[in-house]
Amino acid sequence: MNVKKHKFPGVYVVIEDDGTERIATKNLVPGQKVYGERVINWNKEEYRIWNPRRSKLGAAILKGLKNFPIKPGKSILYLGIASGTTASHVSDIVGWDGMIFGVEFSPRVLRELVPLVYERKNITPILGDATKPEEYRALVSKVDVIFEDVAQPTQAKILVDNAKAYLKSGGYGMISIKSRSIDVTKPPEQVFNEVEKELGEYFEIVERISLEPYEKDHALIVVRKP
Ligand SMILES: C[S@@+](CC[C@H](N)C(=O)[O-])C[C@H]1O[C@@H](n2cnc3c(N)ncnc32)[C@H](O)[C@@H]1O
Repeated sequence: MNVKKHKFPGVYVVIEDDGTERIATKNLVPGQKVYGERVINWNKEEYRIWNPRRSKLGAAILKGLKNFPIKPGKSILYLGIASGTTASHVSDIVGWDGMIFGVEFSPRVLRELVPLVYERKNITPILGDATKPEEYRALVSKVDVIFEDVAQPTQAKILVDNAKAYLKSGGYGMISIKSRSIDVTKPPEQVFNEVEKELGEYFEIVERISLEPYEKDHALIVVRKP
């Protein structure tokens, strides 16, 4: 086995003895497992394998995402943080100098995140509704990146409204789109085009990537606030 740096800072590539390559992040809290992920010890460091079937961001990286603005030291507003599967890898990447403001509107789901954040102090959990960004104004500062994974019909508007309130100029938005959450009757490609058009009225479109075969009818769109 070998571990090498991925082209995105904070992301690693684990090369198994049979040549299989997997992505991973270096565990910020050694000994802490988050979602039953495999852990590798290599050169006195602990790496958590990033499962693309459990994380759309992981799937996007494996699909060859070109732009990855989540970097060490960055601040992230994460809409739809759920119990922290993807956010745990983002927490590993941004490190102790970075911060994740994690918004989730289900109290039951957010409760599952709490044990994680006792030790991962770079995650601030926020019980809030991403459609009402003014509600968490007292808790969130301006951020470098907004990552959104809420699977809601109005997800483009949610990103724009949060970007107006919290995204720095020149900052990036990353949004996971599940076409069936928006319109089950339209072909996914049409839904993605319509979302991109709506986002394009406020942002520059940087990149769109399909998440197939990891997630059916899903795409991830990266945008930039001018
Ligand atoms: C697909 S899951 C997120 C999974 C998570 N991003 C991950 O990869 O680990 C979507 C989450 O968004 C939350 N959600 C949906 N609408 C929301 C809203 N308006 N405000 C905040 N959270 C919302 C749901 O409760 C759910 O936990």
